[in-house]
Amino acid sequence: MAYAIMCSGGDAPGMNAAIKKFVDYTKKLGIEAYLIYDGLEGLIDGKIKQASHDDVAGILHRGGAVIRSSRSKRFYEYKYRKQAYENLKKFAIDGLVVLGGDGSFRAMDRFWEEFNINFVGIPTTIDNDIYGTEYCLGVDTALNTIRDALDKIYDTASTFNRAFVVEVMGRECGYLAAISAISSGAEICVIPEVECNIPLIEKQMRYELENGRRYILAIVAEGTKKTQEIADCLENKLGMDTRVTILGHIQRGGTPSTFDRMMGFEFTIQALKHLQNSTNSNKVVVWNRGEFGLLDIETVVSNKNRVNEYHLSMLNQLD
Ligand code: F6P
Repeated sequence: MAYAIMCSGGDAPGMNAAIKKFVDYTKKLGIEAYLIYDGLEGLIDGKIKQASHDDVAGILHRGGAVIRSSRSKRFYEYKYRKQAYENLKKFAIDGLVVLGGDGSFRAMDRFWEEFNINFVGIPTTIDNDIYGTEYCLGVDTALNTIRDALDKIYDTASTFNRAFVVEVMGRECGYLAAISAISSGAEICVIPEVECNIPLIEKQMRYELENGRRYILAIVAEGTKKTQEIADCLENKLGMDTRVTILGHIQRGGTPSTFDRMMGFEFTIQALKHLQNSTNSNKVVVWNRGEFGLLDIETVVSNKNRVNEYHLSMLNQLD
C-alpha cells in the first residue's frame, strides 16, 4: 500500500508538522510514503518521490512547506487532471492527503468525481474560511504574528497621538481581522461580513476623541478594500495624523506555534486513520468543539465560512 501527501494553494505554518507526521506515521503503519512536490502543478508533472525520514528531519520549526505548493491553472483542464491521475497510478498510490483551502478542495472534488481517487483533505489556510471546521491549520500562528505587529503599532500610535489603519489578510472571511481586533482592543474593525458604515465610524470616533481618546487603531480585512477609505476618514474628517500599515505576506510565514504543530500532527493522524478504512474517500477532516470529525468535500466546498455570531457580538462591544 502507498499513500502520498501534497500541499495546494496558500501555505500556512504547521504544514511541515503535518508532512513530518505523515511520513513517520505511514511508515509506522507499514505503508509506503510519497511526497508530491509543488502541489497540483507537481502532481501533473510527476514530481513524486518516495519519502525517507531524512526528508522530514528538522523541519518542525519551519514555516511554509518543504514540499512546496502552487496555485495551478492547468489543473482546470481535463487533460492535465488525467495526466495527474496517471502519475498517481504510475507510483501505485492508493491514498492521497491534501493540505489546502477551499479552492484546492474544489479541484479535488472534481478530480475525485472523474477518477474515483481515495483522498482526504486537511483544512489549511490562515484565513480560517473553510466551512464546517472551527479551525484551519496555520490560523493560530498567523493570529500571533498579527498580535505581535499590533502590539508594536500600539506603542508608536500612543506615543504620537496618531491613528493607524492596519490591513490584515482575509479575502471573503474577516476571521483574522475580527479576532485580532477583539484581542488587541482595536477601536475599529472592518470585515466582509458587516457592511462598512463610514459615517457611523466617524461619528463614534469623533465622540471618543472629544472625550479624551488620543489614538485610534483600525483593523481592516483586505477583502473589504476599505483600507484607504478608513484612513481618509480618520485623516481628513477627524483630523488625525494617520498611517497605514499593510501586514501582507508576513502573516503567512514564520515559526509555527505549538498549537499549529500539534494540530498538524493530529489532523494528519485522523486523515491517515480514515484513509486506511476507505477505498474511495472524498472527505475533509474537521475540528469542532475540541473534537475531530469528517465532512464530505461536497458539503465543505458548497458552503462558506463566516465570522460567527458570538465573535460578531464581541466586535460590537468594541463600540
Ligand atoms: O492563503 C490565503 C491568503 O493568504 C489570502 O488571505 C490572500 O488574499 C491570499 O492568500 C494571497 O495569496 P497569494 O499572494 O499567494 O496569491
